[in-house]
Amino acid sequence: MLNYPSNLKHETIRTWVAEMAALCQPDAVYWCDGSQAEYDAMCATLVKAGTFVRLNEEKRPNSFLALSDPSDVARVEDRTFICSVNKQDAGPTNNWIEPAEMKATLNRLFDGSMVGRTMYVIPFSMGPLGSYIAHIGVELTDSPYVVANMRIMTRMGAAVWDVLGTDGEFVPCMHSVGAPLAPGQKDVSWPCNKDQKYIVHFPEERAIWSYGSGYGGNALLGKKCLALRIASTMARDEGWLAEHMLILGVEAPSGERTYVGAAFPSACGKTNFAMLIPPAAFEGWKITTVGDDIAWIKPGPDGQLYAINPEAGYFGVAPGTSEKTNPNAMASIKANTIYTNVALTPDNDVWWEGMTKVPPPSLIDWQGKPWTPDSGRKAAHPNARFTAPAYQNPVIDPEWENPNGVPIKAFIFGGRRSNVVPLIMQSYNWNYGVYLAATMGSETTAAAAGQVGQVRRDPFAMLPFCGYHMADYFDHWLQFGRTITNPPLIFGVNWFRTDKSGRFLWPGFGDNMRILKWIVERANGEAVAVEGPLGLMPRYEDLDWRGMDDFSRDQYTELMSVDRELWKQEMLSHDELFIKLYDRLPKEMIFMRELILSALWRSPAQWTPKSA
Ligand code: GTP
Ligand code: SPV
Ligand code: MN
Repeated sequence: MLNYPSNLKHETIRTWVAEMAALCQPDAVYWCDGSQAEYDAMCATLVKAGTFVRLNEEKRPNSFLALSDPSDVARVEDRTFICSVNKQDAGPTNNWIEPAEMKATLNRLFDGSMVGRTMYVIPFSMGPLGSYIAHIGVELTDSPYVVANMRIMTRMGAAVWDVLGTDGEFVPCMHSVGAPLAPGQKDVSWPCNKDQKYIVHFPEERAIWSYGSGYGGNALLGKKCLALRIASTMARDEGWLAEHMLILGVEAPSGERTYVGAAFPSACGKTNFAMLIPPAAFEGWKITTVGDDIAWIKPGPDGQLYAINPEAGYFGVAPGTSEKTNPNAMASIKANTIYTNVALTPDNDVWWEGMTKVPPPSLIDWQGKPWTPDSGRKAAHPNARFTAPAYQNPVIDPEWENPNGVPIKAFIFGGRRSNVVPLIMQSYNWNYGVYLAATMGSETTAAAAGQVGQVRRDPFAMLPFCGYHMADYFDHWLQFGRTITNPPLIFGVNWFRTDKSGRFLWPGFGDNMRILKWIVERANGEAVAVEGPLGLMPRYEDLDWRGMDDFSRDQYTELMSVDRELWKQEMLSHDELFIKLYDRLPKEMIFMRELILSALWRSPAQWTPKSA
């Protein structure tokens, strides 16, 4: 018999946990209460098991390092499935297997999968506890590492049982690392299943099953699985949006704050942008963070869109994060942080590429091996991450937990493109903006297993996260434009354009404020733009260059140039996406393509925004 918490009155959950325990056959079932004492005990267990190393108490109080198995370092998109009843509903951009067949596979895999381990029951809320906008999940996992991370990333704890009452709605999230222990078998520090991984979603049932991986989005099921893949299908059905977006506030010297949402693909700068510190010359301007990865957006009674961050922590990319590039992230991870796959210094602190200009003379690398600067390999894995509580962010927005969300004035979409795509443009209207976001391309990063640096279409930065047919998702966005009275303006950015020798043309990071300021001023009806073949663009003199004397008009011209012939090629690759989505593609996409082509056709070989 299970030792149910006294405030768990939900019969369906009681029965489900009992059934899952019978299937997975753990040695014990532990009900998480979410307390600090429990978190501390969990970390102590992980230290004893060798999964965690406790870091230097003076330099990194209450913080830990975990090194994963070298085969379990990122999301596995080719092992991620949307098992809708009809294949057509998953669409051509998702992997699909017939639900009954998948369930048979999962039942086989989970049968005895937790032998020798404890099954932890994690009640969690995505969004403020009890808020009408929040959704509740219950994750069953055999990974104490997952429990510790979920406590930071979500609102986790026994109070969730009270919110659920006897029949509240919840998303069941099954997770096993897929590494049962035979009697007497010694455990490894990062158990996982090297041969079989399955990240499975049943959108109609709103259920999640994840097997074989203990890493990030594969295992912390509140994040990509619930808050994006399952939530995007809920959002389609109920008329809202679940997006791979950061949310930030821009405070002007007048004190007025404007909120924007920005979608960049994985490891393309959301965390950085969400915590940006404006250049020193921008006195009186301040950025505040609502969220750094996921936004849930609903129309309010006034016809505006309101966004909340369903998460409670940051699972951020470590490499490249430094006092120079992102001081607010550095402050957020000073204490109470879990580091995964970064390097360990001799005095038990952490290090990763880009943290300091000069690397320490010796380290233990992410694979636990001795490392020196001339080792010829990376000390931290490129997808190494920190897990830190959001409240530790010095620029957390005062409204970040407001259950009503914050009003969104602009959407920004941006991929990682070393060429072709200009620094900044504004779409002419909502439908045009949907086209821009739908055809976004990006060079792939280490955030997912597979090849890095290849351009692929990543519509709305949602390619790995949309729980249904991508063309229906476009249509859902178009439908928004038809119903809301004050649609946000839509912008496209690209921080990543390079010159012939591969150097970034744009300094990025804090200097992105120059672009953001123009965006916010556009949204508030203040700044100037000129018409171009791809959209509205600022001229050099329309941006604020205070404190950036070393950046010339010519450099700006190069960053903003639209190469007609390259763009014809780019449009052909948009067509590849459209043909793939042909069965349900909204006709607006085709009409928009025609309009852009006609503008390109009459544009000079190199177009750039110039003074009239
Ligand atoms: P996920 O958590 O994977 O969804 O990613 P994210 O979009 O939050 O990524 P993050 O902000 O952690 O970006 C990580 C990478 O982007 C690092 O390699 C940064 O150095 C790089 N980056 C961020 N902002 C900029 C920028 O303005 N310019 C350039 N060149 N690189 C940037
Ligand atoms: C991403 O890949 O977009 C992430 C990291 O935010 S993970 O949670 O691992 O998916
Ligand atoms: Mn992400």
